[in-house]
Amino acid sequence: MKSDEQENIEKLEQFFRMLDGCIGQNSLVRLILGKYRGNEPDMKTAEIRLIRIKDQDLLSFVYRYRTKDITKNFPIKDGIETVRGLLGKDFKSAHMFLLTEDVQIEFSKRDKCTLSCSKATCSYAPEKSHNREKERMISQDRAFLTVLGIANETHQVFPSMARKWKQINVFLELFQRAVSSSRLSKTQNINVVDFGSGKGYLTFAVYDFLRNSQGVDAIVTGVELREDLVQFCNDVARKLGMDKLHFCQGDLNTYAPGKIQVMIALHACDTATDLSICMGIRSGAEIIMCAPCCHKELRPQLIVPPVLKAVLRHGVHLGQEAEMVTDSLRALLLEASGYETQVFEFISLEHTSKNKMILGVRRDAAQDKKDEALSQINAIKDFYGIRNIHLETLLEV
Ligand SMILES: C[S@@+](CC[C@H](N)C(=O)[O-])C[C@H]1O[C@@H](n2cnc3c(N)ncnc32)[C@H](O)[C@@H]1O
Repeated sequence: MKSDEQENIEKLEQFFRMLDGCIGQNSLVRLILGKYRGNEPDMKTAEIRLIRIKDQDLLSFVYRYRTKDITKNFPIKDGIETVRGLLGKDFKSAHMFLLTEDVQIEFSKRDKCTLSCSKATCSYAPEKSHNREKERMISQDRAFLTVLGIANETHQVFPSMARKWKQINVFLELFQRAVSSSRLSKTQNINVVDFGSGKGYLTFAVYDFLRNSQGVDAIVTGVELREDLVQFCNDVARKLGMDKLHFCQGDLNTYAPGKIQVMIALHACDTATDLSICMGIRSGAEIIMCAPCCHKELRPQLIVPPVLKAVLRHGVHLGQEAEMVTDSLRALLLEASGYETQVFEFISLEHTSKNKMILGVRRDAAQDKKDEALSQINAIKDFYGIRNIHLETLLEV
């Protein structure tokens, strides 16, 4: 009988034969080394792909750290040797995406190696030109983009979907930064819930990004009121073998969430944003990302302070003021609940008019910070004569 060590050697050799072969045939889409167990404190993954610079084929390594990426390019032979030096030692898993199949090698806690192959997730021949994906968080060849109608069969984004494509990439960039700055930065399992997931564009993107670009074992759930959209998204997820991506039909007013580490709610109407934030806070989410829309709650409540009469007598200004006050109060309530919070425009207005994001990352906030946020909320309520804030009522603060 073969020893574990012998079996490991054979599986590694088989893996490296495949790597060698696919580089020769230009069918390596990318290789991701994950499960980092080395000594560098903030290292997460290494992503490797073939590039061509000045007529020379190279292996480009992007080492992804918590807050930065470092790129190093190697001649092919040296690059393969570098992978040999890392796999099974600093990195305990490798996921190789080929045009013909996906290959995964993984080391258990006892260093027993398993090698498995599955259906190819990528079907698009990779370009070797340098900087191909500099501005993109995911590659245009991802199958879900075609099935959801963002790109065509040859992976060109439809002109009518160019804004959505831009929004997905900007969102993923913010998402990655938020994860890196949170307690989830070193976690290999992340649980995400997307409230009001609609047709699932961002839900699919987050799932694909976490699992295939970041090598994270993500479970992603979309919650959506419309049964037809839920059915559609589940069909697509099953068709693409996205086993840990699920959509469930539910109303945020009554939905009972399980574990949530990242709460997303993009363009959930009016107080649906508040319901989502409340569920995120109550479930102890590490990250809360929402882009509110249709602010209806506060406008009828605002009693215009005399000094602002000349400003807010214009309906357009009153609407903008109500929106700004609503989102400021949401941010303060997040701070009072222990989240470091930012409010910013996440995509330029030329791409969408719904462009404001509230981002909360859970910290160990000191009690005096929480008290300060609560006293600011009370001061704003007094100033505008506000009686009810939906999120405050939900949180019972
Ligand atoms: C404007 S769409 C946004 C879709 C997606 N988040 C995006 O940004 O692409 C809002 C979605 O929220 C869903 N929705 C609205 N109220 C809801 C509720 N109470 N419970 C669950 N979903 C809701 C709608 O059906 C709709 O699909």
